[in-house]
Amino acid sequence: MTQIKAAITGVGAFVPDYVLSNDELSTMVDTSDEWIMTRIGIKERRILKGKAKGTSDMGAKAVQNLLEKTGTSPDEVELLICSTVTPDMLFPATANIICDKVGIKNAFSFDLNAGCSGFLYGLTTASQYIESGRYKKIILVGADKMSSIVNYTDRATCPIFGDGAGAVLIEPATDENGIIDFKNQVDGSGRKHLHQKAGGSVKPPSYETIDNQEHYIYQEGQVVFKYAVSRMADISVEIMERNNLTAETLNWLAPHQANLRIIEATGRRMGLAPEKVMVNIQNFGNTTDATIPLLLNDYESQLKKGDNIIIATFGAGFTWGAMYIKWAYDHQK
Ligand code: UT7
Repeated sequence: MTQIKAAITGVGAFVPDYVLSNDELSTMVDTSDEWIMTRIGIKERRILKGKAKGTSDMGAKAVQNLLEKTGTSPDEVELLICSTVTPDMLFPATANIICDKVGIKNAFSFDLNAGCSGFLYGLTTASQYIESGRYKKIILVGADKMSSIVNYTDRATCPIFGDGAGAVLIEPATDENGIIDFKNQVDGSGRKHLHQKAGGSVKPPSYETIDNQEHYIYQEGQVVFKYAVSRMADISVEIMERNNLTAETLNWLAPHQANLRIIEATGRRMGLAPEKVMVNIQNFGNTTDATIPLLLNDYESQLKKGDNIIIATFGAGFTWGAMYIKWAYDHQK
């Protein structure tokens, strides 16, 4: 019996309308367009405005876009996974709320938290359900309202993050294309360099945690930067080598969008021409779980059936990983 493979068969996306530019940020904290462009490579990011709007609102819009683009009915979906670090609430899962908002009723759903590697971990998880032979239509959503945990008085973190959502449909592959190989890693001791201090079971919310500003992202930027560059490049090269891919035969790198310097360093280590490295950080910043699907959505019209793609991520945990995909479809206008 031949092994069933999983393939991404469609992409959908949603970003909120509000554009927070570097110029506007410069009126909020002591920073400049020049510093942000040189050190991070971000020009603007999207922010979800409106009372009582959360991650599920963006996730649901991305899923609706995906269902329309792929001609899929909500009734056909068997499993929905939502990768997020900014769930609507601690429980129930944001995935459940998205299912409710888009009318998915014949499925089960759950959230997955792996920091900025969440989408990649989600792809890995979804692919196992397909490969087992038991599931045929799975939606993976990566969505984050980072603006809900960003401190807009902290210039070291507030330029980096943005809000957004993306979703992919995962089905059994019909030919040799699909998800070929992956490797994920964790180093939990890295948590001290990037985390949210309060709001969980160790430090539930209190007046004190609010006074101490412990509900915002805490990041030691330089430490995270060094880990991100080495781990993302090492694991991408490992996946490249063990699949006999070269800088010539690899068509695309889809790297997590955290900092343009990390993205370029990874591409260089892999020996890739810059035009093979997907980049949209300038438009959206770091949307955490949404960076990879937003990239795939932006580049979808350029991707060809059979293209060799490596997805690579690094994030809070620390978590990191790389996946080799042979793209499964040509874009239909
Ligand atoms: O997706 C999850 C994983 N996260 C990441 O991958 C993020 C990794 N880290 C980074 O991308 C970078 O470390 C940052 C973008 C966070 C910071 O860039 P950096 O080049 O590492 O800057 P730095 O922290 O070393 O700061 C350099 C200088 C400092 O001033 P002094 O001490 O040299 O006078 C900072 O105070 O830049 C200053 N600075 C700023 N200046 C203007 C820090 N933030 C800003 C700012 N505007 N927004």
